[in-house]
Amino acid sequence: MKLVIIGLGYVGLANVAYLVSHGQKCVVAFDCDEAKISSLKANHFPFKEPALNDVLRKECKKVVYTSDAKDITDADAYFLAVGTPNKEDGTADLSFLNNAVDTIEKVSKGSRIVIRSTVPVGTAKKLKDRLSGFSIISMPEFLAEGRSYEDESSPYRIVVGAEASADFEFVRNLRKNDVNNGVPFYYMSNESAELTKYASNIFLSMKISYVNEMARLAEALGADITDVALAMGADPRIGHAMLKAGLGYGGSCFPKDGMALLETASKENLSLLLPQAAAAINVSQPLYFFKKIEKRFPTLSGVKIALLGLAYKAGTSDLRNALSLVLAKLFLAKGAALSAYDPSEGARKAFAQAYPSIQLFANKDDALKGADALVIVTEEGEFAQLDETTLLKEMNGRVIFDGRNLYLPRHFHYFEYISIGRAPTKPDIE
Ligand code: UGA
Repeated sequence: MKLVIIGLGYVGLANVAYLVSHGQKCVVAFDCDEAKISSLKANHFPFKEPALNDVLRKECKKVVYTSDAKDITDADAYFLAVGTPNKEDGTADLSFLNNAVDTIEKVSKGSRIVIRSTVPVGTAKKLKDRLSGFSIISMPEFLAEGRSYEDESSPYRIVVGAEASADFEFVRNLRKNDVNNGVPFYYMSNESAELTKYASNIFLSMKISYVNEMARLAEALGADITDVALAMGADPRIGHAMLKAGLGYGGSCFPKDGMALLETASKENLSLLLPQAAAAINVSQPLYFFKKIEKRFPTLSGVKIALLGLAYKAGTSDLRNALSLVLAKLFLAKGAALSAYDPSEGARKAFAQAYPSIQLFANKDDALKGADALVIVTEEGEFAQLDETTLLKEMNGRVIFDGRNLYLPRHFHYFEYISIGRAPTKPDIE
């Protein structure tokens, strides 16, 4: 069987890795970016995805990386995993998807197209109307960045939208391993599958915004949001996942998908109140945190701030909608002097492009040198194990702002500790 994956971002590569590690003898991995293809051929991977990279390296003989359309002729199925970023008006930009379909039309007279990209509801139908001889299968991905191979190979569920029973059967055969492992399969229309993806992502983002809003209330009332969220999550109907209060969600998925869903609904003359509120809370969350910083440092001009964590979440190199970008802008506008650190070189490089004036360090102790305060931006493991003796040695001031609630409020003895949804604490040793 000839299978072609088009679009080699983390979704496309996780698809490739899944297929070659679950029985496919060969997979053609296509991307029009020639530079990306050259580095993939040399087993240089663009993302900080250890499991994904290991599998691709191990199975490299089974993958044909190419940017030549001749290599993708007459496939049994084309998997679309291209990006669908937002246009300025919030609607999804389908130009990469349409380009991929144009290419498929040139190299195949009829086949299956499996859409793994997140696409507006109705996209599969439009493709069906446009193409003859092709069947269109909607199979949304549910992968979190940084663990895309793990999520693809151990999914909570497989969602398949199609019309013909042969198409459902095709996916079921391809995912025999999941069938054997008892992973639930949900068969539905293309529209329902497309909506399931958005509805799931927006639900998760609502959980985050809900806990962040409760955090503000907890703080006002003298409660502790981590205690509250822990006890809430013990009810399996609520669950612990996505209940960590913090600076809010970033990344290429939640913010983008929220906007796209609202746009889709508004075309149907519907305004979705809960997703709207989740998005608004998320925009105001870093501002709420920044106000705490301003309360502590009413004049930020000249204050030395060390930012720890630049990627949109721990363990990635991706800076899309990262909270570090929002905070850096606020700090610079007030004249603060910033130094910054992230363990990922890719994240540091991307940050340097956005803010060339900010001093970046490849080591967190160097970023802390002389800082009046440190600000934890991401939930990186090493930020949860800061050594107080080192902090005392490197820093000038004794204030820690924790945007991810990585410590118990009384953890630090020598530092003032200000987090989210919990009372601030003063040092108990001067
Ligand atoms: C998200 C979903 O989790 C995936 O299921 C989905 O497939 C993916 O989007 C997608 O649409 O492709 P991702 O954006 O990679 O995955 O990252 P998450 O781990 O979900 O985190 C998103 C953001 O929420 C991060 O900025 C993280 O710091 C924040 N977050 C997460 C919180 O603020 N609190 C939490 O409790 C959890």
